[in-house]
Amino acid sequence: MFGDAIYEVIPVYSRRAFRLPEHLARLEASLQAIRIDNPHDSAQWSSLIGKIIERNPWEDQSVYLQVTRGVAPREHQFPEGLTPTVFVMANSLVTPSKAQIDRGGSAIVLADFRWLHCEVKSVSLLGNCWLRTLAADRGCTEAILVRDGFLTEASSSNVFIVKDGVVVTPPKSNLMLPGITYDVVLEILRANAMAHEVRPVSEAELRAADEVWITSSSKEVFPITTLDTRPVGHGENAGKPGPVFARAYAHYQVFKATVMRSPAHV
Ligand code: PDD
Repeated sequence: MFGDAIYEVIPVYSRRAFRLPEHLARLEASLQAIRIDNPHDSAQWSSLIGKIIERNPWEDQSVYLQVTRGVAPREHQFPEGLTPTVFVMANSLVTPSKAQIDRGGSAIVLADFRWLHCEVKSVSLLGNCWLRTLAADRGCTEAILVRDGFLTEASSSNVFIVKDGVVVTPPKSNLMLPGITYDVVLEILRANAMAHEVRPVSEAELRAADEVWITSSSKEVFPITTLDTRPVGHGENAGKPGPVFARAYAHYQVFKATVMRSPAHV
């Protein structure tokens, strides 16, 4: 009734959950923030998610789970002592095709009118859905959000820009979801000595960027090639995925394959 719940979306490749410990840690942090006791420990979550993966037909899946506060009379103050309700489902995970990547996505820049606890992965996504629909009204696939002149994130993804070969993304704060894919991309940039900075990104920098990428568990790392109807980038790369994106994307695919082959992974 109150959108009083936390969720996670976990990508599964070849029937193995990607970055599961990180997703479970973020779930725990979000539950703690809104005072819901985590109904399961990591081993229990892992086994539950494993069963869902097993019972579904796809090799690659997107596991959605949510924990709602539980059953109680309608009352605004968080009721205490409830048993949380757990819901888990899976869908087929279809990551962007080569054709979609070559084309890239289109985005518009909108004022981020959401609340000030975007670090909590709450199911109360009305603001995000509203913003995404405003983007769709303009024929765009994503809404990139700015607050007080600075980039926060997008309606369902985090945002990176590239300027003069340097990748820049905003630092984690209460104004954005701490993306698991965001962390993976930063790790990849570090591991491959690709120039990058984690610092506030102004709206002007966003609009003047050579490249714009979005990251999420379903889109992985994906290029935005049109921003507010104008091609992203300059010269021969304008309106096309850029060279820095191509490197990061290739490293991401290698990283994914390597991690998923390691026996230590759940
Ligand atoms: N969305 N920011 C927002 C607002 C998001 O909803 C998401 C993910 C992200 C990226 O987080 P991650 O890399 O951990 O997926 C950033 C999920 C996929 C969804 O709601 O479907």
